[in-house]
Amino acid sequence: MKVIPGPASKQLGEKIAELSGLETVPVAFKMFPDGESYIRLEGEVKNETVAIVQTTSPPQDTRLVQLTLMADAAKRNGAKEVIAVVPYLAYARQDMVFLQGEAVSVETVARMLKAAGIDSLTTVNVHKEKVLAKFPFPAKMVSAIPLLAEYFRQEGCGRAFALAPDKGALWLAQEAKEVLGGECGCLEKRRDRYTGKVSVAEKKLEVKGKVVIIFDDIISTGGTIVTAARILKEQGAEKVYAACAHPLLIGDAEERILEAGVEEIVGTDSVPSRVSKVSLAPLLSRGLTG
Ligand code: R5P
Repeated sequence: MKVIPGPASKQLGEKIAELSGLETVPVAFKMFPDGESYIRLEGEVKNETVAIVQTTSPPQDTRLVQLTLMADAAKRNGAKEVIAVVPYLAYARQDMVFLQGEAVSVETVARMLKAAGIDSLTTVNVHKEKVLAKFPFPAKMVSAIPLLAEYFRQEGCGRAFALAPDKGALWLAQEAKEVLGGECGCLEKRRDRYTGKVSVAEKKLEVKGKVVIIFDDIISTGGTIVTAARILKEQGAEKVYAACAHPLLIGDAEERILEAGVEEIVGTDSVPSRVSKVSLAPLLSRGLTG
């Protein structure tokens, strides 16, 4: 097996290859003046299984196209199998028709990847794991939450309260609790489908005087964490931290979260950023080599 570190995840791909003891195939890439992507594999892939590591965080569309071009190039050059390792899977949140007339974007993306030559896919903390069952090839998800919880445990936050923003994400808090050894719970978040505005129902939590870590799959605009942090502070939490697999941190999200009283934001290198303090490389390397 060889690893192709895509332009969006060059460092992570190289780390995965190093930990797995696998050779890498470098990729030359550029963007044409009109915005179209170009890629070229600079190594042999004939008769190889290749793992393309490419996250699809913003600019999502460009990175998705780069991923399809790498898969196509691998197959054209004789690769026998193409595994896509896509830490952040773009469009995964549009996993059903919420309002009449919408597309199921994640299914459209999956079909595009299949058409490009991808044979299987590994991703990290998609919003709903069950969407992967509808992919036209084997697709699996691994969770970064135990790694994030371990980071906090080592930073002295053992026995912290692990909180999920809503019921659907409670399993994230439960996973974190396994590592942290404290309690866990969830809020009841709702999002207006038209405005995107987040609201959280009043709910009493046992957080007074406690250290609380909010675990979520994605931090995008920061609206969810800001609202949750305010509620936790009102209910007497001593310290509030935020952790996520995918720190998209759009616009001034980081500032707004810190202004809401969050001590620290911790994410992974699924989306390289200032808060990407936890690497997914060991987890994804184990997924490739068993
Ligand atoms: C969706 O519900 C996800 O789990 C996240 O809670 C959401 O994407 C976070 O978005 P934002 O940071 O914009 O509130």
